[in-house]
Amino acid sequence: MNLFDVYPINDITIVKAKGSYVWDDKGEQYLDLYGGHAVISIGHTHPHWVKRIEQQLEKIAFYSNSIRIPLQQQLAEKLGNISCKETYQLFLCNSGAEANENALKLASFHNERKKIIAFSKAFHGRTSLAVSATDNKNYIAPVNETENVIFLPFNDEDALDACFKKHSKEISSVIIEGIQGVGGINVAEDSFLKKIRALCDEYGAVYIADSVQCGYGRSGKFFSHDFSGVNADIYTMAKGMGNGFPVAGIIVAPHIKPKHFQLGTTFGGNHLACAAALAVLEVIEDEKLIGNAVMIGKYLRDELLSIPELQNVRGRGLMIGFDVPDELKDLKKNLLWKQKIFTGEAKPNVIRLLPSLALKKKDAEQFIEAVKEEISLLIDK
Ligand SMILES: Cc1ncc(COP(=O)(O)O)c(C=O)c1O
Repeated sequence: MNLFDVYPINDITIVKAKGSYVWDDKGEQYLDLYGGHAVISIGHTHPHWVKRIEQQLEKIAFYSNSIRIPLQQQLAEKLGNISCKETYQLFLCNSGAEANENALKLASFHNERKKIIAFSKAFHGRTSLAVSATDNKNYIAPVNETENVIFLPFNDEDALDACFKKHSKEISSVIIEGIQGVGGINVAEDSFLKKIRALCDEYGAVYIADSVQCGYGRSGKFFSHDFSGVNADIYTMAKGMGNGFPVAGIIVAPHIKPKHFQLGTTFGGNHLACAAALAVLEVIEDEKLIGNAVMIGKYLRDELLSIPELQNVRGRGLMIGFDVPDELKDLKKNLLWKQKIFTGEAKPNVIRLLPSLALKKKDAEQFIEAVKEEISLLIDK
């Protein structure tokens, strides 16, 4: 049997990883500023994470949600404290798309409405409702086409106002990434998130903060939406939550009440996933990784801003993007194949940095040197 060929891939086989480094099957070392697509939060194979998962594996890996799983409560408490959302309620699932699917569905159960506001360049996942709220026609199958999702321009307060006025009590939820990831590192303005909060309050809609990529400390705050100073009703999270172990969740404000059987999952919140997620939060706290993301992120942005060939350097914390002009279009490729550095991208010309929150200064320096070297070589050509 062959694999179903859905991705273009780099011809590299990674067999080992540690911290911000990965190694291929030929023993070549790479610096990882991509984090396996923003997933590696505390560093590859962090010893505390490995130990906690191993110890849990010896005891019990899985039992269904029909019994008490105290690890879930421990995770809820720890997450509540670190995120300063102590009064919120945690529902655990397995992936980012699933988290958004559950959030959109819960909002609709809550206010018994159908319409969703999403934004240009949004990416919310591949499952049916999440993909309907994703602004890319190529991902939306005919069966996912719906009139219930309204797309508005990102950061456009007037368009949002007008939409709420027009549809008023039909709007169930507004879903927005605090920093768009797949869309190319576009930061939601604080005033825009405040406006969403105010309009959701006025019209009884639910504000959903998709924090799948920009959450879990990556931006320099636990949720990037926190920069605005207002709370969302539901935060969705995945990626960094398990540092590579598949675990995801939503946290739900206290005014949205749970009803039995509205949401559910077989695998979500299993013992092993909770152990991995707890290990991640313990390391984020012990090693002060959110502070590190602020510091190293600032260093990277300042250095990138000082490189005149790069355009529109942007982002927060360790979620950084910049535009690469056409004459440097091989930069990403050269960083990988010549400098042995993984970076992310966004179409058509954005390089995205999504490293571990534990990225060291010396690694950031290595990256900046590599970028400068490759730019000068490309210019000399
Ligand atoms: C903002 C955002 N939401 C949702 C998703 C979907 O997450 P998953 O691939 O875990 O389903 C992604 C994935 O890249 C994402 O970046």
